[in-house]
Amino acid sequence: MHTQVAIIGAGPAGLLLSHLLHLQGIESVVLESRSRADIEATIRAGVLEQGSMDILNESGVGERMRSEGALHHGFELSFGGRRHRIDLTALTGKAITVYAQHEVIKDLVAARLAAQGTLLFEVSEVQLHNIDSEAPAVSYQHAGQAQHLQADFVIGCDGFHGVSRPSMPEHLRQDFQRIYPFGWFGILVESAPSSEELIYAQHERGFALVSTRSPSVQRLYFQCDPKDDVNNWSDDRIWAELHQRLENNDGWQLKEGRIFQKNIIGMRSFVTTTMQHGRLFLAGDAAHIVPPTGAKGMNLAVGDVRILSQALNDFYRHGRHDQLAAYTENALKRVWRAEYFSWWMTSLLHTFADASSFQQQMQRAELEFVVNSKAMATALAENYVGAF
Ligand code: FAD
Ligand code: DHB
Repeated sequence: MHTQVAIIGAGPAGLLLSHLLHLQGIESVVLESRSRADIEATIRAGVLEQGSMDILNESGVGERMRSEGALHHGFELSFGGRRHRIDLTALTGKAITVYAQHEVIKDLVAARLAAQGTLLFEVSEVQLHNIDSEAPAVSYQHAGQAQHLQADFVIGCDGFHGVSRPSMPEHLRQDFQRIYPFGWFGILVESAPSSEELIYAQHERGFALVSTRSPSVQRLYFQCDPKDDVNNWSDDRIWAELHQRLENNDGWQLKEGRIFQKNIIGMRSFVTTTMQHGRLFLAGDAAHIVPPTGAKGMNLAVGDVRILSQALNDFYRHGRHDQLAAYTENALKRVWRAEYFSWWMTSLLHTFADASSFQQQMQRAELEFVVNSKAMATALAENYVGAF
């Protein structure tokens, strides 16, 4: 089999890239190791920046996001017994949409299948070949058969644990990494929203976040030990912890409900350079990871494939190589900015077990600075909505 662009991984990066290439008349094949049902049910990100909303809308897959997603014009920061609103729209003219990542995935899978795109699920033993030639290839197993896909380009959109990044020559790669000493405990709850807007809470017991999924399903997170086990947390223990971290003495109360999903995620910052070698390009989590505090991961994946789809279009339509050659440099400008912001927001809001009393006071002073200075609040808002 031959295609123009072989894409490894059907996450937001791989599916959106395939969709954008299709709109430009460029054919691709997407190889995904999991089943369609699995990728459409995995609970992950929830926040779309204005730029990500724009690209989904412009490329014709934004209809359900517009009708079922919730447009948010601000969020709240809670610390020291009080809540403070960050008015995103007043400060930046932009907003964000809360719309679950797996819903974006469903919309993109439906669009690719409606356009007779080739999406292969449950492939295994994916291996990349000849990436430094003009005829790279991918071998894999599908439906019990060994397969070979010849392509002009191979794009690794296979996430942090995929095969694409390790296929880059070791001597050309440099990795930058920080692993945080905490994780997030995430729950899905059947209840009405407790708050109209997201609440990011700094508390001495640890960070907590109130988010939403729909009028009847809420998403909540709290800082935990990354090695903890969800089975150590009864529903009662979870609610007791969330009440303590989120409630002040202002009468606001967190709504409880049936918890129907619990998971723990570790947190890291990670960037690999280069993001390209020969005819292999990396996009999304395959090349970089952010801690979830700034809600940037899915948006960075969208940003990478926007640049890459334009560069591939320039190559096929105009025979130009310059945008492809500049891909890593162009993508990394945005990636490092988001890495900085995600690290900063994580540091601002989490409890560090080894922080001295002086460092704790500095954290509090910085929070006060953010909510009392329009310049600081604007900086936070610009980064959050992705206005960079
Ligand atoms: P992925 O979504 O990881 O997709 C990679 C795909 O490749 C997967 O489907 C995988 O099965 C497949 N694959 C892997 N290996 C192979 C292989 N060898 N062969 C074939 N296929 C393979 N980001 C935000 O922007 N906003 C948020 O609010 C946010 N919140 C988050 C909350 C949580 C709890 C978590 C875990 C993440 C969050 N993120 C958030 C991050 C976001 O989910 C990721 O950044 C995003 O999924 C990256 O997309 P991707 O397409 O690059 O990679
Ligand atoms: C969600 C995740 C985030 O990382 C975040 O910062 C805000 C919301 C969410 O899953 O809803």
